[in-house]
Amino acid sequence: MAKRNIVKIGDDVLRKICRTQLTFDEKLHQTLDDMAETMYEAEGVGLAAPQIGMLRRYCVIDVGDGLIELINPVIIEKSEEIQVGNEGCLSIPDRYEVVTRPMKVTVRAQNRYGENIIVTGEELKARALCHEIDHLDGVLYIDHAKRSK
Ligand code: CO
Repeated sequence: MAKRNIVKIGDDVLRKICRTQLTFDEKLHQTLDDMAETMYEAEGVGLAAPQIGMLRRYCVIDVGDGLIELINPVIIEKSEEIQVGNEGCLSIPDRYEVVTRPMKVTVRAQNRYGENIIVTGEELKARALCHEIDHLDGVLYIDHAKRSK
């Protein structure tokens, strides 16, 4: 595994729509391994492919209950109940803002082998799922923070 450089705000790559990942090969697995290592070293709870310069729809998340790899994730259910809390991003160093998110979300995705999976998250995990999936459409949490002001 190898640590990758994390793209910082101001780089256009963070504002692009990512493409669907169609191959589930060794190259994808290597990239996912690198992303997990990069996330853990940076002490983040999630990292999306565009943050390492890959315009592809996948991300890794670990809020403390184990690593999740999501390929082509889609939010299929959001709770009516919301949560309001501080959020940060490894691409936006030393900054935190209050963002409103659903309390619970359900995500459909594929694993690294292309198998369909369903992931449900509440509280911090729901926040991380929303945040990382936003990255795949070029959306950053500060966009929501501005909107809610
Ligand atoms: Co982020």
